[in-house]
Amino acid sequence: MSKDSQGRSSWSSSLGFVLAAAASAVGLGNIWRFPYLAAKDGGGLFIIIYIILVVTFGFTLLTSELSIGRFAQHGPLTAYGKVKKGWGWLGIIACAVPAIILPYYCAIGGWVLKYLFAFLTGDATAAVDSTYFTGFITGESSSIGEPIAWMLVFTLVTFVVIALGVNKGIENVSKVLMPALLIIAVAIGLFSLTVSFTDADGVTRTGIDGLAVYVIPNLDGITVGSFLTVLFDAVSQLFFSISVAMGIMVAYGSYVKKDANLMSSINRIEIFDTGVALLAGLMIVPAVFTFMGSDGMSSAGPSLIFVTLPKVFDAMGGIGPIVGIVFFLLVTIAAVTSAISIAEAVVASLVDKFTMPRKRAIVITAVWGIVMGLIVCFGYNLLYFEFTLPNGSVAQVLDVMDYLSNSILMPALALLTCILIGWVVKPKFVFDEVEQGGKFKFQRRGLFVVMVKYVCPILLFVLLVKSLGLLPFL
Ligand code: PHE
Repeated sequence: MSKDSQGRSSWSSSLGFVLAAAASAVGLGNIWRFPYLAAKDGGGLFIIIYIILVVTFGFTLLTSELSIGRFAQHGPLTAYGKVKKGWGWLGIIACAVPAIILPYYCAIGGWVLKYLFAFLTGDATAAVDSTYFTGFITGESSSIGEPIAWMLVFTLVTFVVIALGVNKGIENVSKVLMPALLIIAVAIGLFSLTVSFTDADGVTRTGIDGLAVYVIPNLDGITVGSFLTVLFDAVSQLFFSISVAMGIMVAYGSYVKKDANLMSSINRIEIFDTGVALLAGLMIVPAVFTFMGSDGMSSAGPSLIFVTLPKVFDAMGGIGPIVGIVFFLLVTIAAVTSAISIAEAVVASLVDKFTMPRKRAIVITAVWGIVMGLIVCFGYNLLYFEFTLPNGSVAQVLDVMDYLSNSILMPALALLTCILIGWVVKPKFVFDEVEQGGKFKFQRRGLFVVMVKYVCPILLFVLLVKSLGLLPFL
């Protein structure tokens, strides 16, 4: 195992680090939200804006967080205080975010496993019925124990990897699963281009028509307002997708050795995450467009993968159940590897704050994840309650936790991190951490300064205000 003089684990190679960080970044967001946004927000227009944001906004946030982690050599809870005295409280938010996300991500991971199992056991046709999903999560079609059991299996798998450690667990698993995920995504993406379907009105659509919807920029009727919607959809998607503002990249940065080239790793992480998001669009948009028409892509999140896609697989005929198995295998890989990283952010926080043995931190985190995960599962039956969020949507326990973390704490944390780096410790802090006394070169310096001081804080501030429902026109 790689350990430094203080006994802290570190990644055994740059490749191991890049794949572990990419494994975190590639998650449900890439699969169930990116394709939906691309289809909704003018196809290629969204893609172009997203890619520009990756190399500017995403680059800035990712570099800042990884530098904070590597500088401090501490998990998120204590890292911020090491960067600047008086800023330690930011660590509490950076640890609270993964602690809030972990339970509901594991609950959703359980749903993914259930679907993988359903497709494997030939139950796929039942999943075509729209009530299959709600029947499952509410427990009405079998028992309220079923979603809980799947959540427990998913949580167990996640924590087994965590228990194996940073190298033998996280790094090794990422090295196997990330190439596998990439192969599956390419295979389904290519297959999706070959499909064709004639609907009840005699209209024939093909995967290539769907590809056009996905990649050709659609500027019809675009206004300043709709452009801003596209921009902020891309901003919020991106920063969720690269796993920043969740404590993860601080924790992962703390395992990077001082003699490693952070900059080249950052570029590779961005390329991997964006590549998989683009591939997810290629897998999903052409197939959904072909079999369901242009209205098919109207849903994102759970309803896209658990309700719409089973219908698409069914419409594919004989090969559908096989495509379904392979697809849910891919989603399982994406979800497990992200859950691992979110759990590690909490575990690293506890270990470094309380100097407790890793084993104890793992047990505490797992118990927390399971207890809160039970509350999330009960949110659809025993604890059913309709909360109304400030943005007007009706929510259950899961959605409330998601709202609190994604829409409030994450933009706030990212905004405060930019202020800390841009205005308090100054961008030089990041340059020094990356360059290590001139050993490496910090590319895009000027860009970084403008982004971290001005552009990112403004975008994040608007995003935060928008999430609070205070900008109804956006
Ligand atoms: N980047 C992840 C995704 O796209 C976000 C995430 C990471 C969520 C880890 C939870 C845990 O889904």
